[in-house]
Order: sequence, then structure tokens, then C-alpha cells
Amino acid sequence: MNFDLSEEHLAVKEAARDFAQNVLKPGVIDRDNKQEFPAAQIKELGELGFMGMMVSPEYGGSGMDTMSYVLAMEEISKVDASTSVCMSVNNSLVCWGIEKFGTEAQKQKFLVPLASGQKIGAFCLSEPEAGSDATSQKTTAIDQGDHYLLNGTKNWITNGSSASTYIVIAQTNVEAGHKGINAFIVERGMDGFIVGAKEDKLGIRGSDTHTLLFNDVKVPKENRIGENGFGFKFAMKVLSGGRIGIAAQALGIAAGGLELATEYSKQRKAFGKEIYKHQAIAFKLADMATEIEAARLLVYKSACDKDQGKNFDQSSAMAKLYASKVAMEQTIEAVQIHGGYGFVKEYHVERLMRDAKITQIYEGTSEVQKIVISRGVLNA
Ligand code: CAA
Repeated sequence: MNFDLSEEHLAVKEAARDFAQNVLKPGVIDRDNKQEFPAAQIKELGELGFMGMMVSPEYGGSGMDTMSYVLAMEEISKVDASTSVCMSVNNSLVCWGIEKFGTEAQKQKFLVPLASGQKIGAFCLSEPEAGSDATSQKTTAIDQGDHYLLNGTKNWITNGSSASTYIVIAQTNVEAGHKGINAFIVERGMDGFIVGAKEDKLGIRGSDTHTLLFNDVKVPKENRIGENGFGFKFAMKVLSGGRIGIAAQALGIAAGGLELATEYSKQRKAFGKEIYKHQAIAFKLADMATEIEAARLLVYKSACDKDQGKNFDQSSAMAKLYASKVAMEQTIEAVQIHGGYGFVKEYHVERLMRDAKITQIYEGTSEVQKIVISRGVLNA
């Protein structure tokens, strides 16, 4: 077993760190305050090849492995989780889903602009009454011969107003339960497709999260992904991959908190010495570093499982469950180490603490991860 990163992996990590520290950090507090989507920064990420990292160069992607993607997510999330969630949805849910399960025509038409960063994708599963219980889809897509007629509402959609290409999960046959669910590629501008209200959120305030409404939207038959009835399994498989990205995001948020707390503890003096020289602080830093390293190993293991063609449903759920818990707990510690300064925006850690919470909710709550993990344990 070799825990060393390769030269290529180190180069990706360095490039992502450089981008995060020099391009994202200067405006991140302002974007968070104004709830401003990082449009220019996402464009630049696309030009650097970070929006379609795992997509084959044949379809405009960077042809990298999941490990590279995780390393980039970690560095970018240390600074700006609003940017990294956009990157994660585009890379893992949309690009990977279309490349793995789409037709050649879908890849040429939709994947190429998404992988090269010219367009942004969104993944639309959640509904007002279907969050964790993903089979309870109320959005319907009724077969009309050459097209489906799509009707319904989707909630909390990341990249809601900035995307051009949306993967929408809908029920095509209510009696068939999860076997009657399909996934469709819906384009911005189709008649009857309305981008609804934007959410005013606790964290990841720079990402645009919207309600979407579909009123008699005509979706061409060729936009269905996979065989008829494949939509639920498609969503589950794609979300397993997505959870690796969100686990890496949580890891990055936690690690960003540790970096800031370490730096601060070397500068701030109390009771006549730098605060890191007090065991109360040094022990906190030790606990933070240990928890974060444990999360990192789970995240890397899951990325390796995917890269080696192994089943990653379990390891991605474990990585997300643990890394999101670590993100929440350790960003609270980072704020505590900063004392009063931790409570003001200028010092960045309060934002990391607010951003951490969503990692325990989206792409499956912690409780959903435990359902997946416990089923694996019981079926082993
Ligand atoms: N891969 C392939 N197939 C899978 C699968 C997987 N990972 N998981 C389940 N399936 C299959 C099962 O084998 C089963 O098929 P058969 O009947 O043919 O055997 C079928 O799917 C139904 O599976 P379950 O009985 O396990 O389904 P369930 O209703 O009990 O659901 C659940 C289980 C794990 C709770 C699931 O509903 C789930 O993951 N819910 C959470 C959904 C979620 O993550 N939502 C987040 C929204 S997206 C988002 O947040 C994106 C964003 O914007 C950031």
C-alpha cells in the first residue's frame, strides 16, 4: 500500500491551490455577502480543465482520474465551497452521468460543451415532497410518441439559474414505482421551463439554488438517458459518485479551517505568549488534524475504489458521512480558536462553519448515508 501522491496528482493539487488562493480568495467574502454566483471564476475553472476533469479528451474533458478530481475539490473547498459545489455537480453528477450512461449523440450535443466549461449543468431530483425519499417523485413525464410531456416542480437545485443543461428525474409510470422513473436532459429555453425563486441560504451563499418549474415542457424522446425505467438506478449510481465529490468538499472545508486556525494561533498572543504555546490550543489543533486525516483517508479510498472499477456505493457513503461530520465539528473548533475574531466575516472561518452544514444535507443527508452503509453491512 502506497499513500504517496504521484507527480501528476501533486501538480493538480498545486494548480487547484494556486487558483483557490489567488483567484477565489480575494472576492469570496463579498460574493458570500451579496449571494453572487462566481460566474467569471467558473469560466476560468473551465478553461483550466476543472469542469470536466474525468471526462475523456474525446468529449472535451481533461481525462483525469477521480483522485485528481478529489484533490482539486479539496483545495478549492478550503477557500470557496460555493464554487466547488458548482464544480462538483457539473463534474460528478452531470458530466459523469452523461458520459457513463448517455448515447453518443447525447455526448456530442451535451457533454462536449459541459466538459469544456462552456456550459454548466444541473441535476434535478429533489422535490417539495421528495428529498431523502427519492422514489416519491411527483414530477411526471408522459409519453406522447415522439416526445415526453414534463410537468412538475424541483426544489433546491444547485446551478439553478446559471445552468444551460439540466438532468431531470421524473415519473413516467406511477404504478411501476422506482421502475417507472426516467432521467431526461432538459435544455434552458425549452417552452414551459421556468427558473423560479432563488433560495436565501445559511451557507454556500455564492451558489445559486433555485426552484424550477416545468409546465408542459416537450422533451424529445432522444433526451431520455438509458433504457425506459432506468432513471432511479441512474440517479442512485450518479449520486454515489457525487458523494465522493461532496465528501472531498467537506474535507476541504475542514482542512481550510485547520489551516486558518494554525496560522492564527502563531500570530495571536495571550497571557504573554503565542496561543499555540498553550496546550488548550495545541491539543485542539492535534485533534482537528487527526480527525481531518481520518476523513481524508476515507475520501481518497473511495476515489481509489472508483478509479479501480470497484463498487463505490459503500465507500462513498462512508466518506461523505464522516467527512461532513468532521467539517461541521472542526470548523466550530476553528472559530473557537479564533475567539471573537472567528465570529466576524473578515477572518473567513465563520463562512467555513456555515458552509460545512450543507455537506451533511445535500446529495443525501447523513441519515441517507447510514441507510446505504447499514444495508451494505447487513448484506455482506
Ligand atoms: N446503484 C445502482 N442501483 C441502485 C443503487 C445504486 N447505488 N442503489 C439502489 N439501487 C437500486 C436497487 O437495487 C433497487 O433496484 P431493484 O428493485 O431492481 O433491486 C432500486 O434501486 C431501489 O432501491 P432501494 O430499494 O434501495 O430504494 P429506496 O427507496 O429504499 O431508497 C435511498 C434508498 C438510499 C434512501 C435513496 O432513496 C436515496 O439515496 N435517497 C437520497 C437521494 C439524494 O441523495 N438526494 C439528493 C438530491 S441531489 C443533490 O443534492 C444535488 C445537488 O444539487 C447538490
